Amino acid sequence: MKDSFGREINYLRISLTDRCNLRCEYCMPKDGIKNKVTHDGMLSLEELYQVTEAFVNLGISKIRFTGGEPLVRYGAVDLMGKVGELDGVREVTLTTNGILLDQYAEELVKAGVNRINISLDTLDEEKYSLITRGGNLHRVLAGIRRVKELGMKPIKLNTVLIGGFNDDEICDFVELTRDGSIDVRFIELMPIGEAASFAKSKFIPNSTVLEKVPGLVPIDREDPSSPATYYRLKDAEGKVGLINPISCKFCANCNRVRLTATGKLKLCLHSDREIDLRRIIREGGDLEQTIENAILTKDEEHHLENQEYIKRSMNSIGG
Ligand code: GTP
Ligand code: 5AD
Ligand code: SF4
Repeated sequence: MKDSFGREINYLRISLTDRCNLRCEYCMPKDGIKNKVTHDGMLSLEELYQVTEAFVNLGISKIRFTGGEPLVRYGAVDLMGKVGELDGVREVTLTTNGILLDQYAEELVKAGVNRINISLDTLDEEKYSLITRGGNLHRVLAGIRRVKELGMKPIKLNTVLIGGFNDDEICDFVELTRDGSIDVRFIELMPIGEAASFAKSKFIPNSTVLEKVPGLVPIDREDPSSPATYYRLKDAEGKVGLINPISCKFCANCNRVRLTATGKLKLCLHSDREIDLRRIIREGGDLEQTIENAILTKDEEHHLENQEYIKRSMNSIGG
């Protein structure tokens, strides 16, 4: 499926829920979500499957499940398994905060989930509890160990760079890439929803990583549509990725669209424009035709420089 700029759209990110078992400062309001989505407002697991099938029929071959925290949604792992069996699906992946990973790792592997990305902003127990407003680092580390034991490779850690908070840990994160089981990606803090004001005061550019670790050597892009630019330490097996949505754009190679848990199709992370697929399903409309038409209206690039930050919080988009 191509958009009007000739970009092949083959990657769908599905947010299974806006709920989360953490409250990261840059993502969720301290007291949780204010306008909770009703049960009926969410796509049911059957509807999620139905929409996914329509996307796959149109050429989506990579699916990533996100949240909130996807593993808090009842039935998530079953859905991942079923989606993986659809003809045309090449890769089923998951982005999780890792809190429930120790518990679900084996089931995820059995369900055929190919890769797992884990959000982790600090390796310090107290700092972890602070930034996540109460999370327990040891549970995440146990989850990472478990996934490693099960042989899933590479595990990608997503580390959002936060000025004055984790810039002193850049070297420690990079060290984790030595044995090749872990890749680390540093993400520039994006001014989205809840994070808008936080991001302005705490933003530091990803170039900080290259300043702190001059030994990082650029490596060839394996996947041109990946938002990350990759580097490696000379004698390390694993990679260090920099995701720079603020300091440089990767829109020209964008291959992805997003689906919220409420059934809204988001054509770009940085746009408030959404297409309501839940209504189409429930009114018995033509899903595939609606999706095809929508894809043709995907914007060429995002315009963060205009400071028109989107309203939806990250917990309901899933990154
Ligand atoms: P891989 O399949 O491992 O390449 O994963 P991924 O990078 O597509 O997924 P992941 O959920 O790990 O994404 C990492 C982060 O990159 C996201 O949480 C976002 O913060 C950022 N990101 C991913 N896609 C986009 C995008 O289209 N635009 C922008 N601005 N940021 C993105
Ligand atoms: N800026 C950058 N990354 C963010 N994430 C969540 N909110 C933001 C933000 N404002 C990241 C999480 C996770 C991924 C899904 O999105 O840390 O790795
Ligand atoms: Fe939850 Fe991820 Fe948001 Fe943290 S960043 S509150 S783990 S959805």
